[in-house]
Amino acid sequence: MPAAIEVNAMNVVKMKNITKRFGSLVANDNIDFDLRKGEIHALLGENGAGKTTLMRILYGLYRADEGEICVNDNLVNISSPKDAIREGIGMVTQHFTLVPPLSVAENIVLGATDGFLLNPKKIRRLVTEASEKYGIAIKPEALVRNLSVGERQRVEILKALYRKAKVLIMDEPTAVLVPQEVETLFNSLNQLVSQELSVVFISHKLNEVMAICGRITVLRGGKLTGTVEHKDTSEKELAKMMVGRETFGVTRQQDKEPGEPILTIANLSFTDEQGLERLKDVSLEVRCGEVLSVAGVSGNGQSELVKILTGLKKPTSGRVVLNGRDITGSPPAVITAAGMGRTPEDRHAGVIGDLSVAENLALENLDEYKKRGMLDRKLVREHAAKLIEEYQIKATPEDHVRTLSGGNMQKVVMARALSRKPCCVLAAQPTRGLDVGATEYVRSKLLEQSDRGAGVLVVSEDLNEVMELSDRIAVMYEGRIMGIIPALEASEEKLGLMMAGVLEKDETKIL
Ligand SMILES: Nc1ncnc2c1ncn2[C@@H]1O[C@H](COP(=O)(O)OP(=O)(O)OP(=O)(O)O)[C@@H](O)[C@H]1O
Ligand SMILES: [Mg+2]
Repeated sequence: MPAAIEVNAMNVVKMKNITKRFGSLVANDNIDFDLRKGEIHALLGENGAGKTTLMRILYGLYRADEGEICVNDNLVNISSPKDAIREGIGMVTQHFTLVPPLSVAENIVLGATDGFLLNPKKIRRLVTEASEKYGIAIKPEALVRNLSVGERQRVEILKALYRKAKVLIMDEPTAVLVPQEVETLFNSLNQLVSQELSVVFISHKLNEVMAICGRITVLRGGKLTGTVEHKDTSEKELAKMMVGRETFGVTRQQDKEPGEPILTIANLSFTDEQGLERLKDVSLEVRCGEVLSVAGVSGNGQSELVKILTGLKKPTSGRVVLNGRDITGSPPAVITAAGMGRTPEDRHAGVIGDLSVAENLALENLDEYKKRGMLDRKLVREHAAKLIEEYQIKATPEDHVRTLSGGNMQKVVMARALSRKPCCVLAAQPTRGLDVGATEYVRSKLLEQSDRGAGVLVVSEDLNEVMELSDRIAVMYEGRIMGIIPALEASEEKLGLMMAGVLEKDETKIL
């Protein structure tokens, strides 16, 4: 063992002086990070701070340019996930690596055991044993393609544990989960650490971090800001450590007079390919200068509503009128041209990764950048440089969008949609996966849109967001609008009951 490494029996992992460069960008700048046995250790930081990069190095997906990694006090060489797994390190990412047509049990065992073990009964027994040992409920015979996101995540965790992982890296595991699933995940993680496993937990949600993490390491701009103990810190202080300044949140002007309706959704119904009625007679009106939010637990029809409003699906019945134009069932390009600014639920769907930031920013209105039928590259670049500055996107016009961090990708999508001054903005999960600063920024941009007179429709599962931004809140449950209430009358309790289908609008008066 080299003398440079301190012996500390409690550390399962010790990363020392890690530096990783991408071209001239230093994504990790001389970072120290250690993980103790049996702890849940949060890794926090703004979008692009270097969290994923650091963990990808630990999992062998990237090679560090400098620095060393010790596992159980032994200097190790991790140059592929296979090496990482051999050292007992597992990673659960948001982009799952499961094989959809295979069963849960097959997915877990696949690639981890010798061929002779691949007898269905034995596989099922091994997997059931593992599931019981770690307290992670799964259905071994279910096909992965029929599972919810939360269930798939549990399969991924079990898959890592089955490979004898002692360290579990979770990169924003809760970003894709509904509140109930988050609770289940936290229960599982607590049980795992009680069995001396260690977890690295990446999240932008400070309340989650404060709920389950023992220690918290904060990165900023690729550098280590510091590691603190849960008992010595607070959400406010963590936000400050991440952003380097106080955060304020955004506030909405309270006494606005809303204008004329700009978007009218009338009696919209939608039945999907399986014959399930996803939307039932949904009617909403968004007025100029107001923010109307649609709240609800995911899977209650919000996605379908967004897809219909952006032209990705056609309703079974009902009408959508934007700025006096019937856009029911129109394709995305027509809806955009009619004045809808869209930020889709999945930001990866809103950009083309292999194109540059500048090209992506010009995508929706290429005609504006054409001179005698040819794309004017200089104009595209200038336009991009302006938006990059205005929206504080950490990238150059030439960077490929796929190399951007999640938050910066979201800013590209927002910048493109909002810079055209749409008459109506549809923002679906606008701050999912964004850091505190970027969230504040995106919300203030949405309020700016309503201040200049646009109608803003926000679809979000984040109740704080909904209450902070909206003038009115509509709650969806099982494809229906449970009720619409002024934000000033909303409380988390009231919205929660409506989201659970317990309260209808008129009954809210009793609270
Ligand atoms: N493969 C790559 N090629 C070029 N640059 C990259 C690559 N991967 C990451 N980067 C850059 O490294 C920096 C750190 O990115 P990273 O994904 O680690 O951030 P993060 O802290 O995980 O952010 P987020 O919270 O948005 O997920 C960013 O500026 C990003 O653009
Ligand atoms: Mg990341």
